[in-house]
Amino acid sequence: MVKVRPYYGEGSLSAAYYDLITAADSRLAGDIEIYAALIPAGGSVLELGAGSGRITGALAGEGFTLTGIDIAPAMLAQAEARRGALPPEVAGRITFRRGDMTALDLKQAFDVVICPFFTLAHVPAGAAWRNTFAVAAKHLSSGGLAAFHLPKLEIMKLPGPQNPDRPVMDQALPDGRRLRLFVRGRSFREGINRLDQVVEYALVDGAGRTLQSSAERLTFYLADPEPLAASAGLVLDRPPVDVGGMGDIWVFRKA
Ligand SMILES: C[S@@+](CC[C@H](N)C(=O)[O-])C[C@H]1O[C@@H](n2cnc3c(N)ncnc32)[C@H](O)[C@@H]1O
Repeated sequence: MVKVRPYYGEGSLSAAYYDLITAADSRLAGDIEIYAALIPAGGSVLELGAGSGRITGALAGEGFTLTGIDIAPAMLAQAEARRGALPPEVAGRITFRRGDMTALDLKQAFDVVICPFFTLAHVPAGAAWRNTFAVAAKHLSSGGLAAFHLPKLEIMKLPGPQNPDRPVMDQALPDGRRLRLFVRGRSFREGINRLDQVVEYALVDGAGRTLQSSAERLTFYLADPEPLAASAGLVLDRPPVDVGGMGDIWVFRKA
Protein backbone atom coordinates (compact mmCIF):
# COMPACT_ATOMS: atom_id res chain seq x y z
CA MET A 1 0.00 0.00 0.00
CA VAL A 2 1.29 3.47 -0.93
CA LYS A 3 2.07 5.72 2.02
CA VAL A 4 0.34 9.10 1.67
CA ARG A 5 2.18 12.00 3.29
CA PRO A 6 0.74 15.32 4.40
CA TYR A 7 1.29 18.18 1.96
CA TYR A 8 4.32 20.32 2.89
CA GLY A 9 5.39 17.66 5.47
CA GLU A 10 8.96 16.66 6.25
CA GLY A 11 10.64 15.05 3.22
CA SER A 12 7.68 15.91 0.98
CA LEU A 13 8.26 16.77 -2.65
CA SER A 14 5.48 19.41 -2.42
CA ALA A 15 7.77 21.41 -0.12
CA ALA A 16 10.99 20.66 -2.02
CA TYR A 17 9.52 21.74 -5.39
CA TYR A 18 7.07 24.39 -4.19
CA ASP A 19 8.91 27.28 -5.84
CA LEU A 20 9.30 25.49 -9.17
CA ILE A 21 5.60 24.62 -9.28
CA THR A 22 4.31 28.04 -8.27
CA ALA A 23 6.68 29.76 -10.75
CA ALA A 24 5.24 27.56 -13.52
CA ASP A 25 1.63 28.33 -12.51
CA SER A 26 0.56 31.34 -14.58
CA ARG A 27 -2.79 31.42 -12.72
CA LEU A 28 -0.97 32.95 -9.73
CA ALA A 29 0.45 35.81 -11.81
CA GLY A 30 -0.22 39.22 -10.29
CA ASP A 31 -1.00 38.14 -6.73
CA ILE A 32 2.07 39.86 -5.26
CA GLU A 33 1.16 43.18 -6.93
CA ILE A 34 -2.35 42.98 -5.43
CA TYR A 35 -0.88 42.65 -1.91
CA ALA A 36 1.73 45.37 -2.52
CA ALA A 37 -1.02 47.83 -3.48
CA LEU A 38 -2.65 47.37 -0.04
CA ILE A 39 0.44 48.34 1.98
CA PRO A 40 1.39 51.94 2.85
CA ALA A 41 4.92 53.00 1.82
CA GLY A 42 7.45 51.38 4.17
CA GLY A 43 4.60 49.59 5.98
CA SER A 44 4.64 46.42 8.07
CA VAL A 45 3.05 43.11 7.03
CA LEU A 46 2.21 39.87 8.82
CA GLU A 47 2.03 36.95 6.38
CA LEU A 48 0.05 33.94 7.64
CA GLY A 49 1.31 30.79 5.88
CA ALA A 50 4.47 32.35 4.43
CA GLY A 51 5.61 29.03 2.95
CA SER A 52 8.90 29.30 1.08
CA GLY A 53 8.89 33.09 1.26
CA ARG A 54 7.80 33.55 -2.37
CA ILE A 55 5.75 36.64 -1.47
CA THR A 56 7.71 37.67 1.64
CA GLY A 57 10.96 38.14 -0.30
CA ALA A 58 9.29 40.09 -3.11
CA LEU A 59 7.49 42.47 -0.73
CA ALA A 60 10.63 43.03 1.37
CA GLY A 61 12.38 43.97 -1.89
CA GLU A 62 9.83 46.77 -2.27
CA GLY A 63 10.79 48.27 1.09
CA PHE A 64 8.09 46.72 3.30
CA THR A 65 8.88 44.95 6.61
CA LEU A 66 7.59 41.38 6.82
CA THR A 67 6.94 38.81 9.52
CA GLY A 68 6.18 35.40 7.98
CA ILE A 69 4.53 32.63 10.01
CA ASP A 70 4.28 29.04 8.87
CA ILE A 71 3.41 25.76 10.55
CA ALA A 72 5.61 23.55 8.33
CA PRO A 73 9.35 23.32 9.15
CA ALA A 74 10.08 22.04 5.60
CA MET A 75 8.64 25.25 4.14
CA LEU A 76 10.34 27.49 6.70
CA ALA A 77 13.70 25.90 5.83
CA GLN A 78 13.18 26.98 2.23
CA ALA A 79 12.08 30.42 3.34
CA GLU A 80 15.25 30.89 5.41
CA ALA A 81 17.39 29.71 2.47
CA ARG A 82 15.68 32.28 0.22
CA ARG A 83 16.18 35.00 2.84
CA GLY A 84 19.88 34.11 3.10
CA ALA A 85 20.32 34.71 -0.65
CA LEU A 86 18.76 38.21 -0.56
CA PRO A 87 20.77 41.44 -0.29
CA PRO A 88 21.40 42.08 3.44
CA GLU A 89 19.24 45.23 3.59
CA VAL A 90 16.28 43.28 2.14
CA ALA A 91 16.89 40.16 4.28
CA GLY A 92 17.03 42.44 7.34
CA ARG A 93 13.39 43.42 6.77
CA ILE A 94 12.17 39.80 7.07
CA THR A 95 11.54 37.62 10.12
CA PHE A 96 10.26 34.05 9.78
CA ARG A 97 8.74 32.19 12.72
CA ARG A 98 7.13 28.84 13.16
CA GLY A 99 3.55 29.24 14.29
CA ASP A 100 -0.07 28.25 13.82
CA MET A 101 -2.17 31.01 12.28
CA THR A 102 -5.27 29.74 14.12
CA ALA A 103 -3.67 30.45 17.52
CA LEU A 104 -1.06 33.19 17.26
CA ASP A 105 -0.24 36.11 19.52
CA LEU A 106 2.86 38.08 18.57
CA LYS A 107 1.76 41.03 20.73
CA GLN A 108 2.47 43.33 17.81
CA ALA A 109 0.27 45.25 15.35
CA PHE A 110 0.90 45.44 11.60
CA ASP A 111 -0.39 47.73 8.83
CA VAL A 112 -1.56 44.75 6.74
CA VAL A 113 -2.12 41.01 7.29
CA ILE A 114 -2.02 38.69 4.27
CA CYS A 115 -2.98 35.04 4.05
CA PRO A 116 -2.04 34.15 0.45
CA PHE A 117 -2.59 31.30 -1.99
CA PHE A 118 -5.33 29.25 -0.33
CA THR A 119 -3.58 29.07 3.06
CA LEU A 120 -6.86 29.63 4.93
CA ALA A 121 -8.45 26.84 2.87
CA HIS A 122 -5.95 24.41 4.46
CA VAL A 123 -7.83 24.56 7.77
CA PRO A 124 -11.49 23.60 8.41
CA ALA A 125 -13.97 26.36 7.58
CA GLY A 126 -15.51 26.66 11.04
CA ALA A 127 -13.78 27.44 14.31
CA ALA A 128 -10.34 27.37 12.65
CA TRP A 129 -11.37 30.07 10.16
CA ARG A 130 -13.02 32.13 12.92
CA ASN A 131 -9.86 31.87 15.03
CA THR A 132 -7.66 32.87 12.07
CA PHE A 133 -9.78 35.95 11.39
CA ALA A 134 -9.50 36.80 15.10
CA VAL A 135 -5.71 36.39 14.87
CA ALA A 136 -5.63 38.69 11.84
CA ALA A 137 -7.76 41.32 13.60
CA LYS A 138 -5.63 41.11 16.76
CA HIS A 139 -2.47 41.83 14.74
CA LEU A 140 -3.90 44.76 12.76
CA SER A 141 -3.71 48.45 13.53
CA SER A 142 -7.08 50.19 13.54
CA GLY A 143 -8.24 50.64 9.91
CA GLY A 144 -5.64 48.09 8.71
CA LEU A 145 -6.37 45.64 5.89
CA ALA A 146 -6.38 41.83 5.93
CA ALA A 147 -6.26 39.94 2.60
CA PHE A 148 -7.22 36.26 2.20
CA HIS A 149 -6.77 34.41 -1.09
CA LEU A 150 -9.40 31.67 -1.34
CA PRO A 151 -10.14 29.13 -4.08
CA LYS A 152 -13.31 29.50 -6.15
CA LEU A 153 -16.05 26.98 -5.31
CA GLU A 154 -16.63 26.08 -8.98
CA ILE A 155 -12.94 25.19 -9.39
CA MET A 156 -13.00 22.99 -6.28
CA LYS A 157 -16.00 21.12 -7.70
CA LEU A 158 -14.27 20.20 -10.98
CA PRO A 159 -13.75 16.46 -11.51
CA GLY A 160 -10.22 15.02 -11.52
CA PRO A 161 -8.44 14.26 -14.81
CA GLN A 162 -10.10 11.55 -16.93
CA ASN A 163 -6.81 9.69 -17.22
CA PRO A 164 -5.02 9.69 -13.84
CA ASP A 165 -1.85 8.38 -15.52
CA ARG A 166 -1.53 11.54 -17.58
CA PRO A 167 0.49 14.14 -15.64
CA VAL A 168 -1.21 17.44 -14.83
CA MET A 169 2.26 18.98 -14.84
CA ASP A 170 5.49 17.80 -16.50
CA GLN A 171 8.38 20.15 -15.84
CA ALA A 172 12.05 19.87 -16.88
CA LEU A 173 14.53 20.30 -14.01
CA PRO A 174 17.93 21.99 -14.48
CA ASP A 175 19.73 18.64 -13.87
CA GLY A 176 17.99 16.89 -16.79
CA ARG A 177 15.38 15.07 -14.69
CA ARG A 178 11.68 15.88 -14.94
CA LEU A 179 9.11 16.51 -12.23
CA ARG A 180 5.70 15.05 -12.99
CA LEU A 181 2.50 15.59 -11.00
CA PHE A 182 -0.44 13.19 -11.14
CA VAL A 183 -3.83 13.59 -9.48
CA ARG A 184 -4.46 10.11 -8.05
CA GLY A 185 -7.68 10.89 -6.28
CA ARG A 186 -10.03 13.83 -6.11
CA SER A 187 -13.35 14.06 -4.29
CA PHE A 188 -15.52 16.99 -3.34
CA ARG A 189 -18.03 16.86 -0.50
CA GLU A 190 -21.05 19.11 -1.01
CA GLY A 191 -22.48 20.76 2.07
CA ILE A 192 -19.17 21.06 3.88
CA ASN A 193 -17.34 22.23 0.71
CA ARG A 194 -14.34 19.98 1.29
CA LEU A 195 -12.00 18.92 -1.51
CA ASP A 196 -9.68 15.96 -0.92
CA GLN A 197 -6.92 15.23 -3.39
CA VAL A 198 -3.99 12.85 -3.49
CA VAL A 199 -1.26 14.32 -5.65
CA GLU A 200 1.65 12.10 -6.68
CA TYR A 201 4.95 13.82 -7.28
CA ALA A 202 7.36 11.80 -9.44
CA LEU A 203 10.97 12.52 -10.33
CA VAL A 204 11.86 10.77 -13.59
CA ASP A 205 15.12 10.44 -15.51
CA GLY A 206 15.72 11.21 -19.18
CA ALA A 207 14.53 7.71 -20.14
CA GLY A 208 11.23 8.19 -18.29
CA ARG A 209 12.19 5.90 -15.36
CA THR A 210 10.76 6.95 -12.00
CA LEU A 211 13.58 7.72 -9.56
CA GLN A 212 11.48 8.90 -6.61
CA SER A 213 7.80 9.40 -5.97
CA SER A 214 5.72 10.77 -3.17
CA ALA A 215 1.92 10.65 -2.78
CA GLU A 216 0.67 13.64 -0.79
CA ARG A 217 -2.73 14.55 0.57
CA LEU A 218 -4.05 18.03 -0.12
CA THR A 219 -7.33 19.09 1.49
CA PHE A 220 -9.12 22.39 0.96
CA TYR A 221 -12.13 23.74 2.85
CA LEU A 222 -14.32 26.62 1.75
CA ALA A 223 -17.07 28.77 3.26
CA ASP A 224 -18.40 32.28 2.83
CA PRO A 225 -15.65 34.24 4.63
CA GLU A 226 -17.74 37.37 5.26
CA PRO A 227 -19.72 36.31 8.38
CA LEU A 228 -16.71 34.58 9.93
CA ALA A 229 -14.54 37.65 9.35
CA ALA A 230 -17.32 39.86 10.74
CA SER A 231 -17.23 37.86 13.99
CA ALA A 232 -13.68 39.20 14.42
CA GLY A 233 -14.60 42.79 13.54
CA LEU A 234 -13.34 42.59 9.94
CA VAL A 235 -15.61 44.09 7.28
CA LEU A 236 -15.36 43.52 3.55
CA ASP A 237 -13.49 46.49 2.05
CA ARG A 238 -14.13 45.90 -1.69
CA PRO A 239 -15.46 43.24 -4.05
CA PRO A 240 -13.25 40.11 -4.14
CA VAL A 241 -10.38 40.43 -6.64
CA ASP A 242 -10.07 37.57 -9.17
CA VAL A 243 -6.66 35.90 -9.45
CA GLY A 244 -6.16 33.85 -12.60
CA GLY A 245 -9.74 32.56 -12.65
CA MET A 246 -8.78 30.08 -9.93
CA GLY A 247 -9.37 32.07 -6.75
CA ASP A 248 -10.21 35.47 -5.29
CA ILE A 249 -8.44 37.76 -2.86
CA TRP A 250 -10.89 38.94 -0.21
CA VAL A 251 -9.83 42.21 1.44
CA PHE A 252 -11.25 43.11 4.85
CA ARG A 253 -10.77 46.22 6.98
CA LYS A 254 -10.52 46.28 10.75
CA ALA A 255 -13.38 48.49 11.87
C1 LIG B 1 0.08 27.31 -0.57
S1 LIG B 1 1.28 27.65 0.65
C2 LIG B 1 1.40 29.42 0.51
C3 LIG B 1 2.83 29.90 0.73
C4 LIG B 1 3.07 31.38 0.39
N1 LIG B 1 2.26 32.27 1.18
C5 LIG B 1 2.82 31.62 -1.08
O1 LIG B 1 1.82 32.26 -1.41
O2 LIG B 1 3.61 31.15 -1.88
C6 LIG B 1 0.35 27.42 2.13
C7 LIG B 1 1.21 27.47 3.38
O3 LIG B 1 0.36 27.55 4.53
C8 LIG B 1 0.99 26.82 5.56
N2 LIG B 1 -0.03 26.52 6.59
C9 LIG B 1 -1.05 25.63 6.52
N3 LIG B 1 -1.74 25.64 7.68
C10 LIG B 1 -1.15 26.55 8.49
C11 LIG B 1 -1.42 27.01 9.81
N4 LIG B 1 -2.43 26.52 10.54
N5 LIG B 1 -0.62 27.99 10.33
C12 LIG B 1 0.42 28.48 9.61
N6 LIG B 1 0.73 28.06 8.35
C13 LIG B 1 -0.06 27.12 7.79
C14 LIG B 1 1.58 25.61 4.86
O4 LIG B 1 2.59 24.99 5.63
C15 LIG B 1 2.09 26.24 3.57
O5 LIG B 1 3.43 26.64 3.68
